[in-house]
Amino acid sequence: PKMLSFERTSFHFQPKKNWMNDPNGPLFYKGWYHLFYQYNPDGAVWGNKIVWGHAVSKDFLKWHHLPVAMYTDKWYDVNGVWTGSATTLPNGDVIMLYTGSTNESVQVQNLAYPADPSDPLLVDWVKYPNNPVLFPPPGIGYKDFRDPTTAWLTSEGKWRITIGSKHNKTGISLVYDTVDFKNYKLLKGVLHEVKGTGMWECVDFFPVSVDGTDGLDTSYMAKGVKHVVKVSLDDDRCDYYSFGTYEPRTATWTPDNPNVDAGIGLRYDYGIFYASKTFYDPNKKRRVLWGWIKETDSENSDVKKGWASVQAVPRTILFDKKTGNNLIQWPVEEVEELRSNKKVFDKVEIKAGSVVPLEVGSAAQLDIKAEFEVDQKVIESLNKQQVVYNCSGSRGAADRGVLGPFGLLILADNDLIEHTPVYFYISKGPGGNLHTLFCADHSRSSVAGDVDKGIYGSTVPVLHGEKLTVRILVDHSIVESFAQGGRTCITSRVYPTKAIGENAKLYLFNNATGSKISASVEVHQMTTSTSAANTRTRTTH
Ligand code: FRU
Repeated sequence: PKMLSFERTSFHFQPKKNWMNDPNGPLFYKGWYHLFYQYNPDGAVWGNKIVWGHAVSKDFLKWHHLPVAMYTDKWYDVNGVWTGSATTLPNGDVIMLYTGSTNESVQVQNLAYPADPSDPLLVDWVKYPNNPVLFPPPGIGYKDFRDPTTAWLTSEGKWRITIGSKHNKTGISLVYDTVDFKNYKLLKGVLHEVKGTGMWECVDFFPVSVDGTDGLDTSYMAKGVKHVVKVSLDDDRCDYYSFGTYEPRTATWTPDNPNVDAGIGLRYDYGIFYASKTFYDPNKKRRVLWGWIKETDSENSDVKKGWASVQAVPRTILFDKKTGNNLIQWPVEEVEELRSNKKVFDKVEIKAGSVVPLEVGSAAQLDIKAEFEVDQKVIESLNKQQVVYNCSGSRGAADRGVLGPFGLLILADNDLIEHTPVYFYISKGPGGNLHTLFCADHSRSSVAGDVDKGIYGSTVPVLHGEKLTVRILVDHSIVESFAQGGRTCITSRVYPTKAIGENAKLYLFNNATGSKISASVEVHQMTTSTSAANTRTRTTH
């Protein structure tokens, strides 16, 4: 079948129609993964009647869409049931805290719980009769108080949450203690603050193990644990994280490197990825990250197609023991169950300035692993004076340097009119240090005029002796790329009109001037996860 453009995805989460934004309250309950999400039942744009959509899955692949969990039916959330988080108590009970936008558009925090805890699907929800449980405190703007986190236990056995806000232009995270989730005490000071960053949305706070391989439950505290603070910056619509030390006594958190990355940290993803949230999965002892992939076309197009946004494939996240200063993000292992008929291309030589097609049939639904080898002598001879390349300030995949760009052309048509290059670029800084960039170029991803054509990316840490590697999930209009085992990630939201269905192809390319590149590639076709197949509506023959 030939797919229409702007088509739906085959293994990413999306509702059957309409607008979606942030993932909300993810949790594992009685055998099911639950995902709630910001949803507009009335159309394909955001609006003032946002409710909580709800779906469940056993494997993150096959989703069962359930009725809306919470509507805008109370004075304290009549303008929106906004983002919130789940807390699972030691006895198994589930607590939901969410932001409501009141009849006067004041942002307040509300408590909700399952109506029937014996129902594994948690279909019905009760809002606490005495909501709201929190109003904006003195000195905080009434529209600057939203998105409560999952609660964690203090050493005194209380529960603690943090909520993003701002003071003038300083982004801050307020801290509250509670014993019953109904009455709260605002603590002195803030968990963290960074000048000039504006409103902090969807703060996330969680421990990571620096030496283990398991994810940690949110309340876990021990030696050998670092804490991550993640903030979503309303000003630039990107998610930033940093590592630090959490001091339970003062309820503060101190970043390891306050001076790097403008004090706000690294990005989870250098493409389209926002309002993300992690949860601890006791089922597989891992911490799983959900993130929202917004549309990058016009609102008009969204209205026409009747839906907007998908969720990124959930990612397992771990501390990167090798570099010691970034997270490793990797698609949950369940995704590999969709792999079929593997094709292997061993040590393919890509001459300087050339493209090499990879015969994989349709390249619209793939899981790709590629490894690149560069001539060591060329690396050594790189001129130190060379201007250090930067993804977004460049001409993208068309820019030619001695050792880059080279990589893959994703969702390319036969004439290479449309294609999304995902690539590396190696340069040497003035000090002689190698500097490897990982980028994605959207300038030719679509012939459509109303779509984002940006070039995104960042440096990727490459340790001595490591080959350059990338994993790429391709799903019709979403490309998720993970370099060096998940140290640097880029999510692309693309709108091919020619490179679709059977006409979508895959190429290797090497636009470096100074060296041939050798590439070994493993490509799997991905089967469609069942629920997505059921809801696909726009296929022509
Ligand atoms: C982030 C956000 C949250 C808010 C929700 C409203 O995208 O703005 O801060 O709770 O979306 O839909």
